[in-house]
Amino acid sequence: MKKTIFVTGGAGFIGSHLIRLLIGKYPEYRIVNLDALTYAGNLENLSDVESSPNYFLERVNILDVEALDALFDQYQPEGVIHLAAESHVDRSILSPMDFVFTNVIGTVNLLNAAKKKWAGNFEGKRFYHVSTDEVFGSLGETGFFTETTPYDPHSPYSASKASSDHFVRAYHDTYGLPTVVSNCSNNYGPNQFPEKLIPLFINNVIQRKPLPVYGDGLYTRDWLFVKDHALAIDKIFHEGLTGQTYNIGGFNEWRNIDIVKLLCGLVDEKTGRTTSSADELITYVKDRPGHDRRYAIDATKINKELGWSPSVTFEEGLSQTIDWYLANTEWLSHVTSGEYNSYYEKQYKGR
Ligand code: NAD
Ligand code: DAU
Repeated sequence: MKKTIFVTGGAGFIGSHLIRLLIGKYPEYRIVNLDALTYAGNLENLSDVESSPNYFLERVNILDVEALDALFDQYQPEGVIHLAAESHVDRSILSPMDFVFTNVIGTVNLLNAAKKKWAGNFEGKRFYHVSTDEVFGSLGETGFFTETTPYDPHSPYSASKASSDHFVRAYHDTYGLPTVVSNCSNNYGPNQFPEKLIPLFINNVIQRKPLPVYGDGLYTRDWLFVKDHALAIDKIFHEGLTGQTYNIGGFNEWRNIDIVKLLCGLVDEKTGRTTSSADELITYVKDRPGHDRRYAIDATKINKELGWSPSVTFEEGLSQTIDWYLANTEWLSHVTSGEYNSYYEKQYKGR
């Protein structure tokens, strides 16, 4: 084996796509998935690759310092790609401390474990922190987030991610830890937990439940297909410069209400529905507190310096995503039982 890489949060949405990519592309690497398997971690996401000889799973909480040290001793990884996080803004409003623990303290625990294990011998090592564009706050009608846009987080989620980004950079500047950071825009695609806009709305259309559009529906997000994010992470991990930050996005802005209408039309078409169109389910509900109006990433740096650009158009990606959810109703029913229902009640009842 040429290299051992820890991927944290590999049973989640983006992590599972990344693991599948790395396992297939680098058979000579050992890919070790460190995941606590929270409500968002799902081993079904990896069932097609779980028996690959270069794949290893370790169920571990990144809050467990001793367990992290033991895993660094056992596997001697050269690289860490850190995705494990609490990732949903609405949940961060309901339970901010979960985000402080996993996103801030968990990240610092991993930084400490890498620093201790690599002990100043940083040759060939890399700690890659996967972050979000939400750390930059909210844009007006025009303009883009660049790598030098000042941080201005508004939700407990984005504040926790901003804090973790600062710690990663501080460990680079203070201890020389070979870090790299990326900040990506909204992802969509197969295997996304149905608490986020696109999979939640697809699931609700299938169930004929209301589609809860927050506020006036004119909030804007910049959408990227998850497999393109995984390809960007691979590029940055292998070719990005130490100490640098890369923004990732597809120059693909959509107002929420326009996405919802597009999605409803596509589901109607794919399911051959001729009566009661899905968009009759659209319901405007109370806004998310602290709701950022617009995100838009300037992805010029990663394009110019590393030659990455998205491979899938939004129309193709959304169509593939809807097909996947329509074909994977069993996956949907597994993840929407139990805890999902109590979260849904808390989040949407009386809104
Ligand atoms: P996700 O919620 O689908 O998955 C998170 C994973 O982390 C799960 O497998 C979960 O079990 C694991 N995890 C959570 N807490 C843990 C802990 N304490 N210890 C170990 N494992 C733990 O998240 P996602 O949407 O795939 O996002 C992955 C990363 O990418 C996050 O860091 C997120 O901030 C970032 N990101 C996400 C998006 C997006 O649109 N989803 C965009 C940009 C950046
Ligand atoms: O920008 C990157 C971020 O994108 C990631 O860091 C986060 O992990 C990810 O969750 C996502 O955050 P958002 O808050 O933008 O995504 P979400 O899917 O929750 O919401 C997208 C938009 O849709 C947002 O404007 C809120 C709105 N929305 C969302 C839900 C869940 C609704 O109108 N109704 C809903 O029920």
